[in-house]
Amino acid sequence: MIMCWMKFRTLFLIIGFCGIVLLIIQVHLTPDHDETSISKDEPVILWWTPFGSDGASRTCGQFRCHFTQNRSHRNHHNLKAILFYGSNLEVNDLPIPRAPGVQWGLLHEESPKNNLMFVHEEALKLFNYSSTFSRFSDVPLTLVDLPGEEELLDKKFFTPTNEKNRLVKEENRAPLLYLQSNCDTLSDRDLYISELMKYIRVDAFGACLNNRNLPDDLRKNYIEKLHSDKLKKFVGKYKFTLAFENAVCDDYITEKLWRPLIVGSVPIYYGSPTFKDWLPNDSSAIGVQDFESPKHLAEFLQQLVKNDTAYEQYLRHKLTKTGISNDRLLKNLRKRPEEIVSVFEYYLRTFECQVCAKIHRNESRKLTRKEYRCQKPDGRFNFNGNNVENSWIDVWNAEKCTGKLLTEYLLKNKSFLGRDFNTKKMEMYRNNQC
Ligand SMILES: *[C@@H]1O[C@H](CO)[C@@H](O)[C@H](O)[C@H]1NC(C)=O
Ligand SMILES: *[C@@H]1O[C@H](CO)[C@@H](O)[C@H](O)[C@H]1NC(C)=O
Ligand SMILES: *[C@@H]1O[C@H](CO)[C@@H](O)[C@H](O)[C@H]1NC(C)=O
Ligand SMILES: *[C@@H]1O[C@H](CO)[C@@H](O)[C@H](O)[C@H]1NC(C)=O
Ligand SMILES: *[C@@H]1O[C@H](CO)[C@@H](O)[C@H](O)[C@H]1NC(C)=O
Ligand SMILES: *[C@@H]1O[C@H](CO)[C@@H](O)[C@H](O)[C@H]1NC(C)=O
Repeated sequence: MIMCWMKFRTLFLIIGFCGIVLLIIQVHLTPDHDETSISKDEPVILWWTPFGSDGASRTCGQFRCHFTQNRSHRNHHNLKAILFYGSNLEVNDLPIPRAPGVQWGLLHEESPKNNLMFVHEEALKLFNYSSTFSRFSDVPLTLVDLPGEEELLDKKFFTPTNEKNRLVKEENRAPLLYLQSNCDTLSDRDLYISELMKYIRVDAFGACLNNRNLPDDLRKNYIEKLHSDKLKKFVGKYKFTLAFENAVCDDYITEKLWRPLIVGSVPIYYGSPTFKDWLPNDSSAIGVQDFESPKHLAEFLQQLVKNDTAYEQYLRHKLTKTGISNDRLLKNLRKRPEEIVSVFEYYLRTFECQVCAKIHRNESRKLTRKEYRCQKPDGRFNFNGNNVENSWIDVWNAEKCTGKLLTEYLLKNKSFLGRDFNTKKMEMYRNNQC
């Protein structure tokens, strides 16, 4: 009986001992985000909107920084920068009061339509670092939607001109393709295209200005198929593709331009006024801005539809050995390392490392309104005098107040009182104070 008790007690002691040992191991080995994983002089960079690297120390050239998405690092004594993803940035959720010595960085490749405050300098100048479509950003994202040089030259999705001609003559295809389902835009693209459609045939397959159905195999969930080979082959069968951005900003260029270039359908482009700076050759696309009216553009296109020699001048990157003759484009594409997981990932990591290096070097550079330049909707496409007001104008104007009021709050070290900010902002807007 006593033996038995002894054994039991020994067992108890052993279990107890093991428990204590386990506890000690746990205390020592569980990474404590605050202290153990961040070394003493390592700057902490916090993604305020969940994005980018999380809980990782990274080496950027000769520098090292710790990246996190954990908001409790807001009070970390090594905190040096807070980064934001533009589309998810909400004014009521900003980390203010803003601590001195903590820089803000903005990453936003998308259309300003997703957050209109950035079209105003009042908001732009809050950020010490930037990665946007503007070429003047620390890390420009102008080419973020362009997979690479090879894709521009590749003929995988290419349809020769004689086959395109046959499709127009024998299969009742229009020479122009329009495929868009987001119809309410800052750029008023549908107003222009509906006018153009009076003078030249366009096959419009998306929700906007729809006049034709996609083939069955592409119709279901076509948005998901936007990047499929099938859709690329389909686009490649058209002589021209209407490539109109949803907003007009310098260097804001999306897959709308690149996809037709890749498949060998000539883009008819409206969007970035600086787009020719990024074309394989200055005549690889037709700029809407070069024509007085949709009617004039249609007349020009009719000439190209009839004349294969003239048409093929726009396809040099597919048809001649010259390939890509634009040095700016080549230089920027060749900067990318050969092996990258995704183009976006590459730019994101580059931005993180730039911020890290700039913190170490105590450098920063803000974007100005001139460098992030977007055109306010101005009704220029109201061809019939019907004066359709663009529904975005009000938001555009009100967002100027956001930046202005935000700056005031920051200067006064005020934090947000949720609704209070919005009420004040709208009051300023109504009283024309922005
Ligand atoms: C965030 O950091 C705090 C303090 O360092 C830590 O207690 C918490 O567990 C972390 N949260 C997450 C989700 O990692
Ligand atoms: C705002 O707060 C910071 C510390 O967070 C302080 O250094 C600064 O002087 C304050 N500014 C004003 C105007 O109160
Ligand atoms: C970063 O921007 C803020 C807000 O405009 C400014 O107060 C601060 O001086 C800037 N930091 C540097 C290093 O220029
Ligand atoms: C077709 O275009 C080429 C090149 O622009 C031009 O030299 C030629 O005269 C045109 N042919 C006709 C029939 O217009
Ligand atoms: C475009 O291509 C043509 C023909 O290859 C060439 O003569 C011209 O210089 C190119 N333009 C530019 C800007 O590279
Ligand atoms: C960083 O630069 C700013 C001005 O650009 C200067 O005021 C500040 O003293 C510098 N900080 C360090 C640590 O060098």
